[in-house]
Amino acid sequence: MRDHPGLDLLGDYPFQRLAALLKDIPAAEGMAPILMHIGEPQLPQPAMVAEAVARESHLWNRYPPVEGTSDFRAAAAAWLTRRYGLPDGMVDPERHVIAACGTREVLFQTALVAVPDRDGGTGAGPPVVLMPNPMYHVYYGATVLAGAEPVLVPATAESGFMPDYAALDPNLLRRTALAYLCSPGNPQGAVASLERLQTLIELAREHGFLLALDECYSEIWRGSPPPGGLEACAALGGEMEGVLVFHSLSKRSNAAGLRAGFVAGDAAALARLLRLRNYGGAPIPGPLQAAAAALWRDEDHVVRSRAHYQALFELARRILGNRAGYHDSPGGFFLWLDVGDGEAAARAAWRHGAVKVMPGGYMSRPDSATGANPGDRYIRIALVHDLDTAEAGLSRLADALER
Ligand SMILES: Cc1ncc(COP(=O)(O)O)c(C=O)c1O
Repeated sequence: MRDHPGLDLLGDYPFQRLAALLKDIPAAEGMAPILMHIGEPQLPQPAMVAEAVARESHLWNRYPPVEGTSDFRAAAAAWLTRRYGLPDGMVDPERHVIAACGTREVLFQTALVAVPDRDGGTGAGPPVVLMPNPMYHVYYGATVLAGAEPVLVPATAESGFMPDYAALDPNLLRRTALAYLCSPGNPQGAVASLERLQTLIELAREHGFLLALDECYSEIWRGSPPPGGLEACAALGGEMEGVLVFHSLSKRSNAAGLRAGFVAGDAAALARLLRLRNYGGAPIPGPLQAAAAALWRDEDHVVRSRAHYQALFELARRILGNRAGYHDSPGGFFLWLDVGDGEAAARAAWRHGAVKVMPGGYMSRPDSATGANPGDRYIRIALVHDLDTAEAGLSRLADALER
């Protein structure tokens, strides 16, 4: 059988790599495993989900609209407007929002839409997609399978854990079809300032590439709320040309299993994305769209979750804050901890503490210029549990790292 050669370039996804790393290592005896390798919020789910699903159960036998029900899109547009202080009417639910079955799928599909099949008419070489390194690996997979050249831009301690796209060679920017940015970032938790977002939007417009702003951690923050891409568009005059923002309920509402998110922004890009999704995208089932709309309309549960994440970070600081590699992050729920050798630390955490953490090098790729993998020294720890479980996990991890 012949298949897509890009699949070989991708290799295994980070979770499969971690499973292979730990396959022959027994977990510490007598300890219940604690899974801190995956960003899956373990907080209770708001009751409104079950209520909405029960109320709308007559919809199970209906094909749901791929673009989202009017109610879903209205709830999403109203949430964006409230959250980012956008001018009324800037986000038209019918033109500027489409529903997504979780954001992973649409982040992937965005590359299929944005990447031209040859050189995009620039004559300068194959199309390029920019992404931070480390990154959410879906950006990389989408880029390779869309036939573009991934350009990994360091997002390391030296660059404040954000990639500096504006500093790239203009010839490379001319070939760029798409740039992904995640703020707050996974795994480092860095937040792009409003000024950075504005500069990036101007850069994208100047060079004619699409900016995909992954904002799925936007509601989990310490200090002040992270600014968003549409807020930056508003500050630049209100046009959303060249900008898509991606929002999800997986993290905001502890609802990873609901598979509900949306994409908003540039109407023309959304129309193309919707065309693609009509051919090959999974819609959100009707009862779940109703549940998702209820969640977007409620902030109380989000405020409660945020306070819990704050407490989790205080706990982490208490237990790990004295370590040399520790740093506080303003957003998201991951600790990105410099331990010298991430794979060795992940093995030790499992062997001595029955705690699963993600080696940082699995969240990044070797730099094309230097060959060095900027995540190798790190581990990623998901702070997503109740306080007792998190305390046990972090204490066992601290002990394992001491050995
Ligand atoms: C950075 C980032 N973007 C997007 C997603 C996708 O989330 P979902 O498909 O659940 O909306 C995740 C999930 O872990 C993520 O970490």
